Amino acid sequence: MLVLGIESSCDETGVALVDTSGVGVPALLAHALHSQIEMHQAYGGVVPELASRDHIRRVLPLIADVMTQAGRALPDVDVVAYTRGPGLAGALLVGAGVACSLAASLAKPVMGVHHLEGHLLSPFLSADPPEFPFVALLVSGGHTQLMRVDRVGSYELLGESIDDAAGEAFDKSAKLMGLPYPGGPHLAKLAELGDPAAFKLPRPLLHSGDLDFSFSGLKTAVLTQAKKLGDDLEVRKADLAASTQAAIVEVLLKKSMSAMAQTGLKRLVVAGGVGANAELRRQLNAVCLKRGIRVHYPELHLCTDNGAMIALAAGMRLQAGLENLQTAYTFDVKPRWPLAELSPNPGL
Ligand code: KG4
Ligand code: ZN
Repeated sequence: MLVLGIESSCDETGVALVDTSGVGVPALLAHALHSQIEMHQAYGGVVPELASRDHIRRVLPLIADVMTQAGRALPDVDVVAYTRGPGLAGALLVGAGVACSLAASLAKPVMGVHHLEGHLLSPFLSADPPEFPFVALLVSGGHTQLMRVDRVGSYELLGESIDDAAGEAFDKSAKLMGLPYPGGPHLAKLAELGDPAAFKLPRPLLHSGDLDFSFSGLKTAVLTQAKKLGDDLEVRKADLAASTQAAIVEVLLKKSMSAMAQTGLKRLVVAGGVGANAELRRQLNAVCLKRGIRVHYPELHLCTDNGAMIALAAGMRLQAGLENLQTAYTFDVKPRWPLAELSPNPGL
């Protein structure tokens, strides 16, 4: 089956086509992406209304591009998948509206996909795909979660952030340092030039004994430190960036290792935008090697939002027999949608 996937939950319009007919994981035939980062940069963050309007502008040309790249025509598409949530309501509605109208015009079924399921399964498109079961560390701009994943569609929440996500901690700290949006990659680049031990910043909930995270206190500590530095901030910025990154990475690393110990699993999957962070990857690789844990990441360009992960998640759910395909085009979106709700027995 050919599955077209459309992602529009935040500030990236992504489209991709996968083929589920082979053995194993669906094959990615083509994908295309338009990032709105430049447009939002002037405002220091995502402006939801502008995001929705830009998705409208980009989505049809991207679909045409993907079909051309794959050498296929729209009537070849068997299922149209879109990101149903979580995300910005107006932005999600663009993808949902386009997916439903396209599917209706082709008389094909439509399928709503969970954005985080897309992130979580995205390492299956890498050269070193994982095998089930595994622990997933989901670190995106809006979510920081540890999940136990036994198979497609079975997601048990082990712990999550009680306030800011790791990506938010990166972005908000970067903003305080005057770095452009989205701050994560800029802060990471600056951190390469600094001393991670220069400033003592808090490691919230590091010893809480559970698998929850909290990052809002860290942002406050960075603000306090920046104020204390005053005019010296400019010359100490790389040190502050390196210290901030070190605090975030240490918490993610220790909590991930606690999750591995608690579940007894030997496979870790890291997904979401923060999973692109080189220091996080370096430290996780070193610790996992020592402990005999296999760690898997998505390809770097598939860490942040994209259409490939949505088409892939749809394809994998279809292969697993988890979908009753809809031909009622009542597109609904879920701006807030816990991933564990997808599991057959949520909470178990
Ligand atoms: O998964 P994603 O694209 O969007 C959401 O679903 O939220 O994640 C975006 C987040 C942003 O907070 C961004 O700053 C962060 O991922 N990010 C990074 C890096 N690349 C992206 N954070 C740290 N280091 C990076 N290299
Ligand atoms: Zn995302």
